[in-house]
Amino acid sequence: MDYREYIAKKLNSTEITANDITLPPNSELGDYALPCFKLAKVFRKSPVQIAEELKEKYECDDVISSVSAVNGYLNFKVNKSGLATDVLSCILKEGEKYGCSDDGSGKTVIVEYSSVNIAKPFHIGHLSTTVIGSALYKIFKALGYNVVGINHLGDYGTQFGKLISAYKKWGNREEVEKGGIHAVNDLYVRFNEQADEAMQEEARKYFLKIESGDREANELFEWFKSLTLEYVNKIYKRLNVHFDSYAGERFYIDKMQPVIDELKSKNLLKTSEGAQIVDLEEYGMPPCLVLRSDGASLYATRDLAAAVYRKNTYDFYKCLYVVAYQQNLHFKQIFKVLDLMGKSWAKDLVHVAYGMVSLEDGAMSTRKGKVVWLEDVISRCVEKAYSVITEKNAALENKEQVAETVGLGAVIFGALYNNKIKDITFSYDKVLSFEGETSVYVQYTCARANSVVSKSGAKIELQLSYEPEAVEAEVIKELGNFPAVVRDAAEKYEPSLVARYAVDLAQKFNKFYIDCKILTAEGDTRAFRLALTKAVHVTLTNALALLGIGVPEKM
Ligand code: ARG
Repeated sequence: MDYREYIAKKLNSTEITANDITLPPNSELGDYALPCFKLAKVFRKSPVQIAEELKEKYECDDVISSVSAVNGYLNFKVNKSGLATDVLSCILKEGEKYGCSDDGSGKTVIVEYSSVNIAKPFHIGHLSTTVIGSALYKIFKALGYNVVGINHLGDYGTQFGKLISAYKKWGNREEVEKGGIHAVNDLYVRFNEQADEAMQEEARKYFLKIESGDREANELFEWFKSLTLEYVNKIYKRLNVHFDSYAGERFYIDKMQPVIDELKSKNLLKTSEGAQIVDLEEYGMPPCLVLRSDGASLYATRDLAAAVYRKNTYDFYKCLYVVAYQQNLHFKQIFKVLDLMGKSWAKDLVHVAYGMVSLEDGAMSTRKGKVVWLEDVISRCVEKAYSVITEKNAALENKEQVAETVGLGAVIFGALYNNKIKDITFSYDKVLSFEGETSVYVQYTCARANSVVSKSGAKIELQLSYEPEAVEAEVIKELGNFPAVVRDAAEKYEPSLVARYAVDLAQKFNKFYIDCKILTAEGDTRAFRLALTKAVHVTLTNALALLGIGVPEKM
């Protein structure tokens, strides 16, 4: 049962929905609370007065056992044994569907993420967009939305002319076939280091050749593209990441003209130093460049066309751009221009910004040759996971497979755990610690719960007449919060809420595990505790799955 929904319904006001009901930080006060501050404006009364009045009207029952009004908050306490029965039976019945809903049915959400650049390194800077975007994709799916994952490829620009020029001069087919994306990137780096004016000129020509449909230039470009995609797709697969479309910047080249025409007809374009711009001074922003003085399109032009195309094609409810905060201004400009064009849906475009990831051993350097490839970070994590799990349990079967699951979990969780806007420092030791707030800790807890249940040999049944102890009630309450956490994570575009939830639940379960006998308990107590343990296993598994992380059966 969804308690927030239940409470909201009983309060019976159009101004109050389940989302207004919060989880108080301190359960002494209550299990749920309604802050009345937002309502003050609507009801034209003080929050304290509103809370008092709502309290007078609210009738307790066998679900909500007491209500109190404190400092503008209305606090609710839940009937513990009723809650336990409800929550556990719901989880055991729903299994892997626990946490899912049909909130989003009939609505389409676009999640644009990862957006790699063709022929450039897939480096640690792409980690956050990839794992945050993928988690949002899975979270919205779980909530019943129709989700479209788009990898907005960086596949347009003069750099491809440079690459062809470098390949013609220094490259050969076998070497590039063998070296794949690394060899391609080396050529590009070499061009930037060594190209003379003649090569620069040649690069410009090759770029124009790609544009004019020249066969050889396009074949080379497609080849570099397929090498890049082959490479990144392997990593996506390991990370459990999925896309429905790879329509990148190039895809929009022939879709820009109508947008430019519309800007013109709406008198939004201005000429400035030969270039075409949309003046945004009034909104405190530098102008948005739409066409260069030589008539070439820009990054922004392609994004304007992409937004219009996506609206026409998918009629989205929301379109999310999971892109680093360095591009804050870019997206503000794009959204504003679309708004000025009269697109009422501009308000549904959301820049989901996140902070930088750097490695412990010095900031990530994007300078030539010093890029940290994401694949190397993954390999190191998996290697380290292998030694960490061997240390813990030398006799473990399938160690390689477990190390892969644990190592990848650590990479994902490491990038996800913090509030996404924070810059983070990635530490191999930290992300693979059994003691910290890590995926390994959650996975280990999950494996522990699993082994308790399977050792019991019991068929999990729910005893209806058990009054939980405090430490058990804490676990139950946390279990019951999962659907609300998933909803909250979607609403705030913050998958870290799910990650934190998993750690909190694991901690509460471990406290219970230390305090209470499970297998050696008897009768109803044993049956209840086993059901609780099973429910924790289900919920932790579901939480990690939303982040793209698997759970080993044994660890
Ligand atoms: N490929 C770009 C980069 O690596 C990110 C693309 C972001 N998405 C967009 N629609 N502009 O910086």
